[in-house]
Amino acid sequence: SDLVADGKLSGKRVFIRADLNVPQDDAGHITEDTRIRASVPAIREALDAGAAVMVTSHLGRPTEGEFKPEDSLAPVAKRLAELLGRDVPLVANWVENGVDVQPGQVVLLENCRVNKGEKKDSDELAQKMAKLCDVYVNDAFGTAHRAEATTHGIAKYAPVACAGPLLAQELDALGRALGAPKRPLVAIVAGSKVSTKLTILKSLAEKVDQLIVGGGIANTFLLAAGKPIGKSLAEADLVDEAKAIIDLMNRRGASVPVPTDVVTAKTFSADAPAETKSADAVAADDLILDIGPQTAAQLAKQIGEAGTIVWNGPVGVFEFAAFEQGTKTLAKAIADSAAFSIAGGGDTLAAIAKYGIADKIGYISTGGGAFLEFLEGKTLPAVAVLESRAK
Ligand code: 3PG
Repeated sequence: SDLVADGKLSGKRVFIRADLNVPQDDAGHITEDTRIRASVPAIREALDAGAAVMVTSHLGRPTEGEFKPEDSLAPVAKRLAELLGRDVPLVANWVENGVDVQPGQVVLLENCRVNKGEKKDSDELAQKMAKLCDVYVNDAFGTAHRAEATTHGIAKYAPVACAGPLLAQELDALGRALGAPKRPLVAIVAGSKVSTKLTILKSLAEKVDQLIVGGGIANTFLLAAGKPIGKSLAEADLVDEAKAIIDLMNRRGASVPVPTDVVTAKTFSADAPAETKSADAVAADDLILDIGPQTAAQLAKQIGEAGTIVWNGPVGVFEFAAFEQGTKTLAKAIADSAAFSIAGGGDTLAAIAKYGIADKIGYISTGGGAFLEFLEGKTLPAVAVLESRAK
């Protein structure tokens, strides 16, 4: 980075806000460490430049001022130490007591969200934190949609504030997909509810050439198209919104392809007998659990012709073998496509892992909520504050 090239980090106290909020099992073992691995380049860069490095993150949603053992970043410190091949001491009560760290060392500052004022972006807390460092580096794309003391306030008061390599890389990739994309731009937005993704659907409807819907979202669009959906998950009160999205897309000469065939079952379970049928022939007691093979093949063809692909959400209940074909077919189509593809969201990452296509996706976001808010077209406060500092 420029800071390193300019020799600006040597001997400096560098405070890195990372997003190390990773899933753990009941015994406190980390079950997925992508975010920890993604934080390594920024830390290495600062260490190699001779900085005294402090790293912090939130973990979970702890109660402020009430530190409980399960809130501790201790498992993360251990994993980070393995990845860096060096000690990563964990520092508690760092706001009150300050931080003792020497150039060439890295310490992990305990869960920043237990500090009073973190969530509310308290100025007083942000100023105290800013005093700990010479350079503040935000590398937490996953938390960029939150205006908190370590993601926002501190950036106003630190002597220098800048984006780290992961944050920069995420913004580059997402900007490339949605800023000036190679067309056709195809978005796949799936998941259980229209309500949680309505803003994304509306925002993408203004930009994309094809809006592929799946899961419960597709059911609501099937309702809007006057198709029977039996007892499938759908939101009848959002049918008008779905119609408005279809109208907008049609006016733009773009399309929202609704499934022409579906895979149904009578109950929601892994061993429920699956039946493939036309989307016109769904019975009153049917549950739609996947798109059908004809629909999947048609969508795969369109994905194959795309210039850019944005993927959020599996199109069926891919956790159950009988209802995974739609998601699997589209995943393979995305993997085989020459298009620049971006993907994000927990379920999407699980599907990517299941089908082993991670290295065939152009960019996999480390953001959950932040990725969705970016797709919604919202300004990410943690990014906005760095931009205003840069001016
Ligand atoms: C995430 O996992 O999406 C981020 O770490 C943000 O977590 P939060 O929703 O608790 O702010």
